[in-house]
Amino acid sequence: MDDRSNTIAGWVLAGGIVALGLSIVTGMYFHPEAPEKEGFAVVAEAAGEAGGAAAVPIATLLATADIAKGEAVFKKCAACHTINQGGANGIGPNLWASMGKPHGHVPGFAYSDALKSVPGNWDWEGMDKWLANPKKYAPGTKMTFAGLGNPEERANLILYLNAQGSNLPLPTPPAAEAPAADAAAADAAAADAATGEAGAAPATDAAAAAAAPAAAK
Ligand code: HEC
Repeated sequence: MDDRSNTIAGWVLAGGIVALGLSIVTGMYFHPEAPEKEGFAVVAEAAGEAGGAAAVPIATLLATADIAKGEAVFKKCAACHTINQGGANGIGPNLWASMGKPHGHVPGFAYSDALKSVPGNWDWEGMDKWLANPKKYAPGTKMTFAGLGNPEERANLILYLNAQGSNLPLPTPPAAEAPAADAAAADAAAADAATGEAGAAPATDAAAAAAAPAAAK
């Protein structure tokens, strides 16, 4: 009796193994279709991102950026960079408090002339462009990193970088700026209406000044 149930159990097990094997083989057979679809989706997504990169300013993305996600992204940089205060240089320089500093901010690190000759300091837009495509930002740079294609990922990372010793105030997103400027212009106009014609010209100027940066962006 026991022998028989063992035999039955054995066959049930064998059947299961055969079924598993079949499903693996079937999976292998039908698999080639899947990557093709995924590849297509990735291409479509990348195209959307390329379009979105120009459309959404870094200031807007920073406002909703996630610092914990940025810290996770930094793992891609950690092969070459430390970011703790007083951390050692690796293949790349220590990055503590690099935001807001001049290009090539670590004394004694052998930067490329390409990076050192980029004028100005590391600001939000500059860092965003650098991390999107280092070779485009500083042609001839020694940083052999392809770049991060995802604008949100860059914003998360830059928020994290800024929190490591720099702590610059976040830039005001242009979308939030516009209504404030409009309100100021409206206030000025109301004041002008009360004081008479004399103030009309400055009000127009204020409106033009408010419109100019928006048009430039
Ligand atoms: C393969 C190594 C490598 C990787 C990976 C890498 N970097 Fe670099 N990084 C470098 C080198 C080398 C330099 C110096 C570039 C030069 O002098 O042209 C540099 C320079 C920099 C600078 C300029 C610092 C300064 O003092 O002006 C920043 C900022 C920076 N990297 C950020 C990052 C971030 C953020 C990542 C991750 C997304 C990253 N790097 C990934 C090697 C690397």
